[in-house]
Amino acid sequence: PQKRYLIGGNWKANGTLAQTAGIVKILNQGGAIPLEAEVVIAPPAHLLGYVKDNLRPDVAVSAQNSALTTKPGAFTGELPAVLLKDFGLNWVIVGHSERREGFGGPGETDDVVATKTKVAVDAGLHVMACVGEKLEQREAGKTTEVVLSQLNAIASKLAREDWSKVVIAYEPVWAIGTGKVATPEQAQEVHESIRAFVKEKVGAQQAALLRIIYGGSVKGSSAPGLILKPDIDGFLVGGASLTSDFVTIIRAVK
Ligand code: G3H
Repeated sequence: PQKRYLIGGNWKANGTLAQTAGIVKILNQGGAIPLEAEVVIAPPAHLLGYVKDNLRPDVAVSAQNSALTTKPGAFTGELPAVLLKDFGLNWVIVGHSERREGFGGPGETDDVVATKTKVAVDAGLHVMACVGEKLEQREAGKTTEVVLSQLNAIASKLAREDWSKVVIAYEPVWAIGTGKVATPEQAQEVHESIRAFVKEKVGAQQAALLRIIYGGSVKGSSAPGLILKPDIDGFLVGGASLTSDFVTIIRAVK
């Protein structure tokens, strides 16, 4: 199977109805999606239906999170992966650093993220599983250690065949929402170690086909330099995915 670049747009907790209609319009009128690209938009949960119904059909819609539970039931506020799939969605983001951090409450551990990934894959979803180090971890020279241990937790729950449904999003926490994009070299170094890990732990074929996408202050201006790197297979875009700059990022993969 041909490997296409994956460009994800994570709206996070943004999107009034008016803003959402505006972004959907930008995407719908944004011209052809390059054949080399697969585009996935992740609006907040209350907008999933609206976006799915109004967005061009060649752009997929993703949830930003899904539940640990494998079945629907008494889990107030949770989004079971099986219900997302039933609703016609094919994607979910799991383990974003903001969820790992916990918003003042207990955050998601490596184990929770790994289990959510497995539950979502088993429900038939494709998963963008996020990993990434904090600034102090990078400064302490622990980037690879941190990222690979997050990845190892995920890999230990997945069967070999599950990897066709998984995308790894490398998002250094210090680059998220800060305007400090990783250099192409910094991102490539980590992406290369992620692919080497998957090759060693899972298999050469799975590693070759795995899409490893970069997230953290990606803009239309920084995307072209990043995408040239051999192990950067796309982007997970936050802030810029709320603007027409997202269309420029999509075009950068041509
Ligand atoms: O999921 C997206 C990332 O957290 C990147 O966000 O592009 O606003 O830095 P950002």
